[in-house]
Amino acid sequence: MDTISVEQFIQGIPKVELHLHIEGTFEPELMFEIAKRNNKKIEYTSVEELKKAYSFNNLQEFLDIYYAGANVLIKEQDFYDLTWAYLKKVHEQNVVHVEIFFDPQTHTDRGVNFDTVIKGIHRALVDGKKQLGISYKLIMSFLRHLDEASAFETLQHALPYKDWISAVGLDSSELGNPPSKFKRVFTKAREEGFLTVAHAGEEGPSEYIWEALDLLKVTRIDHGNRCLDDPKLVTKLADMQMPLTVCPLSNLELKVVPDLKDHPIPTMMDKNILVTVNSDDPAYFGGYMNENYLGIANALNLSKQQITTLVKNSFKASWLSDQEKEKRITQVETYFQNN
Ligand code: ADE
Ligand code: ZN
Repeated sequence: MDTISVEQFIQGIPKVELHLHIEGTFEPELMFEIAKRNNKKIEYTSVEELKKAYSFNNLQEFLDIYYAGANVLIKEQDFYDLTWAYLKKVHEQNVVHVEIFFDPQTHTDRGVNFDTVIKGIHRALVDGKKQLGISYKLIMSFLRHLDEASAFETLQHALPYKDWISAVGLDSSELGNPPSKFKRVFTKAREEGFLTVAHAGEEGPSEYIWEALDLLKVTRIDHGNRCLDDPKLVTKLADMQMPLTVCPLSNLELKVVPDLKDHPIPTMMDKNILVTVNSDDPAYFGGYMNENYLGIANALNLSKQQITTLVKNSFKASWLSDQEKEKRITQVETYFQNN
């Protein structure tokens, strides 16, 4: 029997995205288009020149460019167009469910209303469900380089939109901004009924992962690469089946790993950690979901069985209902058996 290539296998398998910053999907072409209609200046003269600037030695170098890019987003329609472009893109890649971040403070600090941001994103998500069949959850992420008071203010803005927001998260500059800095606002968010997640152990030490678990009571760790420095933590994550939302191309581009051949995903799988594959900021890191899967599949010689396990992990780690999870996991297993 003819079998399909690994590339075709990855393309066809129904996938989930659990770690994606909507501001990180801002493709240069759309950025220039929106800048023009909003009369906003971009520091670079062309799409090509902007793309040349996408070379990073660490997280902070990336964040500086990422926040600058978001400056041209002003109107509700801008946030709609950004989100809609992402959904159309991942629909082509057979992504069927997304749980995405937005960073309200990136916009409210520039004078854009919280309502403008969330209404645009939410309207696109609703259209994506209707027109593309992509189910979704939305995660509001606090910027950790800002203070906790600003996070509290942001949480206040979110309260009228509880039905649209499933969880709060924590992102931006990790080193020097430990999860403990946000303990109180995460406690309040949980009291208000939000789930919690946090970026931890991307550049920061394994202690930050412990803090995210113990103080922020997260249901997933975003990245989590540095857990491998601490055998006790590895055992804990495996025992809890605490999901890690790992981002291979992001790790490569931000020098978290020197080469995809050194990526820790196989080690994490060997240690029975519930590891998942995600794209983080695909417009900046050279690939959406399929490119992330294919990158590690090629570099690490992953089998179709291993790819299937990673996809199943994502469904397990999602916030879909148990019934929906079961249906999707059966679908993925059938796909594996037939291909
Ligand atoms: N914001 C967008 N992408 C991020 C990342 N990889 N780490 C921390 N904050 C981010
Ligand atoms: Zn991220």
